[in-house]
Amino acid sequence: MDESPLDTAEAAPHASAVDSVAVVGAGSIGIAWAIVFACAGRRVQMQEVDPARREIALGEAKSKLHELEAGGLLREPIATVLSRISVSGSLEEAVAGVGYVQECIIENLEAKQELFARLDALTPRDVVLASSTSTIMASRFASDLAGRDRCIVVHPANPPYFLRVAEIVPAPFTSESTVSTTSELLASSGLAPILLKQEIEGFVFNRLQGALLREAYCLVRDEIVTPVELDTLVREGLGLRWSLIGPFTTSELNTRGGLRRHGEVLGPVYARIGIERAQEDPWTPETIEQVARAVENSLPHRSWEDNVRERDRGMIQLSSLLKHFENPLTYHRTD
Ligand SMILES: NC(=O)c1ccc[n+]([C@@H]2O[C@H](COP(=O)([O-])OP(=O)(O)OC[C@H]3O[C@@H](n4cnc5c(N)ncnc54)[C@H](O)[C@@H]3O)[C@@H](O)[C@H]2O)c1
Repeated sequence: MDESPLDTAEAAPHASAVDSVAVVGAGSIGIAWAIVFACAGRRVQMQEVDPARREIALGEAKSKLHELEAGGLLREPIATVLSRISVSGSLEEAVAGVGYVQECIIENLEAKQELFARLDALTPRDVVLASSTSTIMASRFASDLAGRDRCIVVHPANPPYFLRVAEIVPAPFTSESTVSTTSELLASSGLAPILLKQEIEGFVFNRLQGALLREAYCLVRDEIVTPVELDTLVREGLGLRWSLIGPFTTSELNTRGGLRRHGEVLGPVYARIGIERAQEDPWTPETIEQVARAVENSLPHRSWEDNVRERDRGMIQLSSLLKHFENPLTYHRTD
């Protein structure tokens, strides 16, 4: 997966076995998934219980496709992509003939349990049943089902047509073929599948987000910075750099001597900060070594200096792309 970030809606025509999907729930995430799958050439059969949302779902998808097209991010005409999406009130109709179901209903355990029981009864056993849930593990909503081996969590970032990663979280009972079909489907829809080795509360995306938010709330509470200053610091600083490299690669390239040296110098400082926040969880030499090796192997050059040069080249290209970008969310209100 090494397309540029702007290729989101230009995913290669699908290579996986699944050529049609059902999307259950036509809210924000459901519509976004429909766009992802339809842009990758798949037929998308949506189901929505609320007649008012059914009425506006295709219009919402169309206006998002217009925005993508205006940004040069659509490979095909809007009408072609839109013609692949249908919306129905009937679950039976929506799941007929599909190879994969992406559930996107409200975040409620009972509602998911009830829906997955219906999906398990309505679809053949080789159809993957995936939930977009942000917080509920598959072992909580699917463990009693006869077809639980095909149930899985596929947690997107919002919206998935811009943020091209999704977490795949199998339950202990999820089959390997369910995981591989899901990974192939995501990859061939232009998303990088991140496979979690086991279920964990908050998955990884929200655990990382949570770690940052925990500290951010403490810093604001203690009047170290204002909320707006904190947002600015992340947006213009950490976030901009993270759009190019992750936190481990940042540590590797920020310190001469790489991650191992970074661990020596900054490890004790971060450990003290952790203790201050009642989290005594220092980085161990073994984990630092494991991360250092993985990052070294992922970088394009052997020499630290050459990799730092590439990072700087990337930052310059990114700054150049952003030179004429006016962030509509950083204007000050005048009323
Ligand atoms: N919004 C996010 O940032 C985000 C990110 C990742 C994952 N998620 C997850 O995606 C799921 C959907 O979130 P959302 O933000 O799109 O919510 P939303 O409220 O915008 O949409 C939910 C839709 O599901 C419909 N619905 C409810 N019960 C239904 C049922 N039984 N059958 C069919 N449709 C039903 C509702 O009418 C509504 O249109 C949630 O599980 C959420 O945790 C959300």
